[in-house]
Amino acid sequence: MSDVAKRNAALAALNLVEEGMTLGLGTGSTAAIFVDELGKKVKAGFDVICVATSEATDTQARELGIPMADLDTAPVIHLTIDGADEFDPELRLIKGGGAALLREKIIADSSDMMVVITDATKQVKELGAFPLPVEVNLFGMALTKARIEETLEILGMNGIQVTIRLNAGGVPLLTDGGHHILDLHCKVIPDPDMLGAVLDQIPGVVEHGLFLDIADAVIIGTEMGAETISR
Ligand code: A5P
Repeated sequence: MSDVAKRNAALAALNLVEEGMTLGLGTGSTAAIFVDELGKKVKAGFDVICVATSEATDTQARELGIPMADLDTAPVIHLTIDGADEFDPELRLIKGGGAALLREKIIADSSDMMVVITDATKQVKELGAFPLPVEVNLFGMALTKARIEETLEILGMNGIQVTIRLNAGGVPLLTDGGHHILDLHCKVIPDPDMLGAVLDQIPGVVEHGLFLDIADAVIIGTEMGAETISR
């Protein structure tokens, strides 16, 4: 994914932002470009208030002088702009490559409108080539992992590797919420709705990276501009 395509997607999303809106700010390299561009508008006097989907985005936005609120003091979010790791023809997503899926889902789900900024490399016919992130509680993580593996087998998704995500130092990564991430190397997810529903039922699973009925539009950045797919 080129930086030009990311920027073109981010600039197209910026056109959706109206004065006085409360915005959800996503996480990842594409969302970071959007936040940079929003910061320029704010510096020029544009009035918005934002909530961030991660500590990293919160820090970036504050450094740019963007007014920030927390979710409890800004309960109405008009528009959230975020990246994605994969999207399918129904605009179902895999997210969480940047380990921010929990706050990303809380904020996206609470938004009047959720728009993904990405490029064509993230477009798939079926979700699953990107390992599906599942955020899990530290307590009993081995049991939760075993339960997920067992559940995948029951769904007929046999032989799927489930790995604990490590940080750069080689130890299990800690999310902003203080949890670990398991990556499910599904290759293909035949029934995302079913998988999402069963993961939701497993004790110890805090959240998973299937965003199934959340995105309203995907803006696909290209070298030349951007195109939008809406529901
Ligand atoms: C963060 O947890 C993810 O959901 C990101 O939004 C996703 O990984 C996309 O990131 P990039 O814009 O860096 O590809």
